[in-house]
Amino acid sequence: MGLHIFVAIVATLCFTSVPAAPKPGQAAIASAHPMATQAGYDVLAAGGNAFDAAVAVSATLGVVEPYASGLGGGAFWLLHLAEEQKDVFVDAREVAPAAATPDMYLDADGDPVKGASFNGPLAAGIPGQAAGLVHLAEKYGRLPLATNLAAAIGIAQQGVPMHRRMLLGLRFRRTTADRWPAFGSVYYPSGEPRAIGELMPQPDLAATLQRLADKGMDGFYRGRTAQLLVDGSRAAGGIWTLEDLARYRVIEREPLGFFYRGVRIVSAPPPSSGGIAIANMLNILDGYDLTRFDEVTRKHLIVEAMRHAFRDRAEYLGDSDFVDVPVKLLMSPAYAAGQRSAIRMDHAMPSAALADVVPPSGAGANTTHFSVLDRDGNRVAGTMTINTWYGSAFMAPGTGLILNNEMDDFAIKPKVPNSFELIGSDANAIAPHKRPLSSMSPTFLEGRRGIAIVGTPGGSRIISMVLLAALAWMDGAPADDIVAMKRFHHQYLPDVISFEAGAFSDSEKAVLESRGHALSESSRPYGNMNIVTWDFASGEVEAVTDPRARVDGRVY
Ligand code: DON
Repeated sequence: MGLHIFVAIVATLCFTSVPAAPKPGQAAIASAHPMATQAGYDVLAAGGNAFDAAVAVSATLGVVEPYASGLGGGAFWLLHLAEEQKDVFVDAREVAPAAATPDMYLDADGDPVKGASFNGPLAAGIPGQAAGLVHLAEKYGRLPLATNLAAAIGIAQQGVPMHRRMLLGLRFRRTTADRWPAFGSVYYPSGEPRAIGELMPQPDLAATLQRLADKGMDGFYRGRTAQLLVDGSRAAGGIWTLEDLARYRVIEREPLGFFYRGVRIVSAPPPSSGGIAIANMLNILDGYDLTRFDEVTRKHLIVEAMRHAFRDRAEYLGDSDFVDVPVKLLMSPAYAAGQRSAIRMDHAMPSAALADVVPPSGAGANTTHFSVLDRDGNRVAGTMTINTWYGSAFMAPGTGLILNNEMDDFAIKPKVPNSFELIGSDANAIAPHKRPLSSMSPTFLEGRRGIAIVGTPGGSRIISMVLLAALAWMDGAPADDIVAMKRFHHQYLPDVISFEAGAFSDSEKAVLESRGHALSESSRPYGNMNIVTWDFASGEVEAVTDPRARVDGRVY
């Protein structure tokens, strides 16, 4: 009898602690370009899983959105392994080269040299994306790396039709491009960019991808590609060495998991600031019943939560392999309760009351995010970047690769704002082999409603966009509304709410101003959110792309 009860208890425990993983039975992919999405579906149709699809989508995005990501940059991929019910964070972020120094972008007076961390090979960290693709395919995929890269190679050879974002970025990069002929010859073949719709082949890029497909890590981090990268970048003032490339490694990290009102959120750990900031903001908001407030007070409280989280980002966050990041403290509800006690309902807290005021600088942007769910329930949220539009605008001759300008994500001098107007402290100072602090926040939301796979480009605004999307999903908003809704953002400094037209009604603006907020309408819409949702009640799986990136009815 006693044994029966024991067996029953064990059976119950086993049953409750290891539930059979539900399977969606259908796949969904959302990315910033239809050719990349198609490459992912083709790989799934060929027997690949979500991780194979992630390799195909990532590599193809680097070809069709050369301004946003690519082998010359870095990436974070958040994975969910359905069989093991396990989440993994693949960190393929760039690292500073061995010869990097904390003051490498400062002049003799200690002032930042304009553009030094932004343009040319000196602005580039050692790329991680190629290593990440090899890692994903070899450790988690079912198909050979070469199969997963085939679509990207084919498109690079045949040419991608020129599209609007590509053109806008080339206009933005027009003057710097003249300085580096390899970049100019691919993108401005007759001195001007190609017309929209015209095919743009990238033969050197195809050959670089082919070497990666043939030889894996050695096909990029050693041999011809490595030599071309080092020779090209050093000839133009860079400091990379062959040793820098040979020692590059992907790092697998434990993702950050936390709960908000019964929903489990899984997001990016350092060297991303995203997971910590999102956890902190939700912990602050958890002390309020947001449904009881009028809409403008709700927005006021969200802004105040953003202010606090971004202040701590500036002070504490950096590569946790180099500095002690107080992750537990920053994610603890008790810490958030302290921050909450300083928040007033009727007035904005001036950021200057939290720390010194730092003047802003200009910003320009691009990066890309995709989400994949396969029929077995494996998931990938991938955010990849070369940092700003066309990265450093430097192409090492013969490689077809645009090198990133991710070094600008370091605090090049304490309290000097970067391209995203972010400031930092010693925690994010430059050091050899260190990863620059990122805002990229590939995220999973898991609750009774179902699953959402979320992320977006947008520099510092990534964090606030993912927060707003998470809140909307938890409120039951449909996927279309989540990607379309108007966004607002506060990052502690500059002490201003930047917002998209339509994010606030006229009366909300008046109320926010009367509560002491400074408002600044963004000159353009921002972000490019690609999400996949799986609704448990209906079984429906949806892939939704950001309407901001759709042109003439086509998704770009
Ligand atoms: O890692 C980061 O936070 C930045 N390099 C991301 C840049 C970005 O999202 C630009 N997008 N518009």
